[in-house]
Amino acid sequence: MRFDLRLLLLALVLARLPPEAKTVGLPDHVTQHMDRSISPCRDFYAHACGNWSAVHESDPYRSLLDQLDHNYHQRLATLLDQVESSGQEARFLQLPRAYYASCRRSLDMPQVLAFLERLIPEPELDIDELTVAMTAAFRLKVLVEMGDGKMEKIWLKLLLRHDPEWDRNETRREPLERPQFEQLWLQMPARGRPKRESFWLELSQLERDLIREDDDDDNEVFLDKLDTPAYWMLPWRRSPPSLSHIRRLTSLLAAKTPQFLIPYILLRLRLAGGGLAKAQAWQVERSECAEQCRQLLSHPSVWLLEKDQPRLPEEPVLQDIFRTLKHRFGQKLRANRNAFGRPTLKFLLSKLEHMTLRLSVLPRSGSVHSLERRLEHHYRELQLNASDYFGNLLAALRQDTLEVGMPLLKRRQPLPVKPHGYGSFASPFYLLMSNTLVVPLSLLGPPLYTPGQSELLTYSSLGYILGHELSHGFTPGFVPIDSRGQYHLSVGRERLRLRRFQQQVRCLRWRFGERQLDEKFADFNGLELAYSAYFDAVEGDTRWDQAPSTTWSLPRQQFFLNFAQFFCSDEDGSQDNDDDHGSDSRRVNDAVANFQPFREAFGCPSKKTHKKLQCRLY
Ligand SMILES: *[C@@H]1O[C@H](CO)[C@@H](O)[C@H](O)[C@H]1NC(C)=O
Ligand SMILES: *[C@@H]1O[C@H](CO)[C@@H](O)[C@H](O)[C@H]1NC(C)=O
Ligand SMILES: *[C@@H]1O[C@H](CO)[C@@H](O)[C@H](O)[C@H]1NC(C)=O
Ligand SMILES: [Zn+2]
Repeated sequence: MRFDLRLLLLALVLARLPPEAKTVGLPDHVTQHMDRSISPCRDFYAHACGNWSAVHESDPYRSLLDQLDHNYHQRLATLLDQVESSGQEARFLQLPRAYYASCRRSLDMPQVLAFLERLIPEPELDIDELTVAMTAAFRLKVLVEMGDGKMEKIWLKLLLRHDPEWDRNETRREPLERPQFEQLWLQMPARGRPKRESFWLELSQLERDLIREDDDDDNEVFLDKLDTPAYWMLPWRRSPPSLSHIRRLTSLLAAKTPQFLIPYILLRLRLAGGGLAKAQAWQVERSECAEQCRQLLSHPSVWLLEKDQPRLPEEPVLQDIFRTLKHRFGQKLRANRNAFGRPTLKFLLSKLEHMTLRLSVLPRSGSVHSLERRLEHHYRELQLNASDYFGNLLAALRQDTLEVGMPLLKRRQPLPVKPHGYGSFASPFYLLMSNTLVVPLSLLGPPLYTPGQSELLTYSSLGYILGHELSHGFTPGFVPIDSRGQYHLSVGRERLRLRRFQQQVRCLRWRFGERQLDEKFADFNGLELAYSAYFDAVEGDTRWDQAPSTTWSLPRQQFFLNFAQFFCSDEDGSQDNDDDHGSDSRRVNDAVANFQPFREAFGCPSKKTHKKLQCRLY
């Protein structure tokens, strides 16, 4: 390793310690989320975050991470509300302004119909086109995340939608009769419409299925309250639907292609005709429009925000923590508990050394002028129109579809981001192919981070988060992949041979399943790295050796309490095991259960089994 961090660490210790050592209280924004009636040893998440929902009851966000993005979008909305009058602004900056202006316009049914008509002659109707068609037809205010394998969930959401403002007389729930169909067909754009007979066959079959009574209806719970779902325009039967009926509808509709659904939805909207056309206009809210801008036009949006605030004053702080964490992990690797052979150990240390941290999805090198040029080039083909919201939505989605893919990061290029995926919200991510951690700037705001906050708060939040992302480079699957994304066969083989390493992999797999293995390892390793980076450095100071045990445990408790804040949310626990991470409460509780210093800090009774159940890859 080229760098020696001993000196740096010493400097950190000196700079950091004296005021911190005597720290007594955590900030209110942490303590108010606690529910002290619940023992930290029993359920630490509930202890640390139990009152989060009560405190944020009237707020529009549902988790701390959401809150950070929400604040970021509010700032963006404020910038986009201001009229740019110089006439000098670069073209790529006019894009978010045009998008935002179109999004804030009042929307109505004639616009929707006109847009669907425009879609039909398009050479290819695919998921982007369906996304916008459904956003328009169902008056979705927030961009929905569609795609293969996601349509059942989306239809389910639409089927369960309730809105007291919706007047169900606006719709028609009867299946189409053939003569009605013939009439409506005449209004279809002649170019690009499907073949009439096969379309009618598919349509009439679907409609029969949609309203069919089920044999097993009696045995199910009836959803009494669910009359016609809000903004529904498809057939709907008279008797209240059972759960199994709803399930059947979702799978029927999810199986339909965009080529069928788009003209079909257009026909049904026309059938409802007068009522729907007379329906009230609607408008998308400011922060939702800003959010869509940020998702679809990330770089110009981030650029506007960065220009508004001095660019990245946090960078040195984060790079500093990142170096410290790398140093810690390097020490761990060198201790070599897995008995890696010399070449593999060298490989791992080199991968660690070359791992970089990048703030913001915008490139960080080069002059402002060259960055502007690159962004101008990046968006050169995107045409937006300040009075055509649905058209803009489609154009921006198509542009993003072109770019998606695991990016190989070039230093000077804007990082491709994915709507609803990496880079378009506050969550940081690790890019395997270029061995880089990316931290979107929206992460770096209060309450998670305030410039000048104590090191304890910074290490227990950002330190953990960076430690988690760093760990992604060293999961069992990614270990053999080097800084340039190349697979190293010898490392891959050795990893499979080593007894201890495989034992720990099995430990993780047995406790959390294959799917969550990587994320759990990253959580555990991240927490351990952040904790040791902070406390081991601190303990070099003699003050700490003489401190009585109450002073000793207090900052440790604070460290864990603040760590948990990142996960505080409104969750109801129902999405347990739903994805790679597991629920927020499980993440916190699993991470601390896997970490002995937590039990010591809170004086939790420690059984032998606790230690035995801990999985530690390195
Ligand atoms: C939870 O928060 C609410 C609202 O801020 C507050 O009134 C209440 O006292 C808190 N409860 C606990 C247990 O701290
Ligand atoms: C909807 O139509 C029904 C039957 O025609 C009528 O009784 C009801 O008042 C209407 N509801 C509204 C909100 O107009
Ligand atoms: C912008 O969209 C509106 C509404 O769809 C349309 O009337 C207008 O011609 C478009 N302008 C340009 C320049 O394409
Ligand atoms: Zn992760």
